[in-house]
Amino acid sequence: MKPSLATRIGALKLDNPVLMASGTFGYGDEITDLVSVGKLGGIITKTITLQPRPGNPPPRICEVTGGMINAIGLQNIGAERFLQEKLPALRALQVNIIVSIAGNSVEEYVRLAHQLDGVRGIAGIELNLSCPNLQKKIISQDPKLVRAIVAAVSKASRVPVIAKLSPQVTDIVAMAEIAMTAGATAVSLINTFPAMAIDIATRKPKIAFVTGGLSGPAIKPMAVRAVWEVYRALKAPIIGGGGIMTAEDAVEFLLAGASAVSVGTANFIDPGVPEKIVSGLRSYMERYGIINIKELVGSVRC
Ligand SMILES: Cc1cc2nc3c(=O)[nH]c(=O)nc-3n(C[C@H](O)[C@H](O)[C@H](O)COP(=O)(O)O)c2cc1C
Repeated sequence: MKPSLATRIGALKLDNPVLMASGTFGYGDEITDLVSVGKLGGIITKTITLQPRPGNPPPRICEVTGGMINAIGLQNIGAERFLQEKLPALRALQVNIIVSIAGNSVEEYVRLAHQLDGVRGIAGIELNLSCPNLQKKIISQDPKLVRAIVAAVSKASRVPVIAKLSPQVTDIVAMAEIAMTAGATAVSLINTFPAMAIDIATRKPKIAFVTGGLSGPAIKPMAVRAVWEVYRALKAPIIGGGGIMTAEDAVEFLLAGASAVSVGTANFIDPGVPEKIVSGLRSYMERYGIINIKELVGSVRC
């Protein structure tokens, strides 16, 4: 019997659990020559905002041991141009499209949600509440703001709403619980860790913004722990991610409690990685006689 990789995030059905993580593959329309995007569970678009943003000045990325630091600063073309210029091409890929959004206020998140509501081809909304590369505090460090944004967007939107949280909090379970009780369909765990690297020859930070977000294999064990803690406490649907480079990494996240996984930094090495993870998951299931991928979710033996 062929193993079934089908999973779901609330009402959102995915053929398999592998998603492209926001901000790590352009808008998606540029990579179609390199990747059979249709073979993935879905893509989470680059975060869009109401108005276009130029992002932070360069250098905005640097490589570090076990990963990379970025401080892109939510550079994007704005919601209107995204819908006009990018979404049609993405829609043609026949893949679940989860649109990532960010705003400066509850009102901005709601205006974005209204703008996206009912647009054909949008399967879900991911609320980026966790960007570390802006002048202000990370939103998901503020429980009141998380509650207000998630509640307002969930009300304004007919598609599943996923709250993407920062790991840079004292209690990730408490923040996830707030998001879930406010109406989120799922939580996305985790965004990057605030980090810094210094060029010892020039004594300057390697990133012009000085600090940035650390991603890649270095953060994987911390991401797995966050997923496990939230799953154990809330049994909430979780998109797990942080340092996933291989199918084995993805399995770890599923065992910890993720129903789906997102792959980010690996795309900078090879945008074909997410597709390879899908086939690697299938091989793992065959090897261990697992019929349905849902059997793996949260099945770590502690
Ligand atoms: C260059 C770069 C840009 C990113 N841009 C976004 C973004 O726009 N919105 C967002 O929610 N996350 C963004 N992220 C975070 C990723 O989506 C992902 O959550 C994080 O990098 C951890 O996963 P990874 O280790 O697989 O990369 C970005 C990450 C990188 C490396």
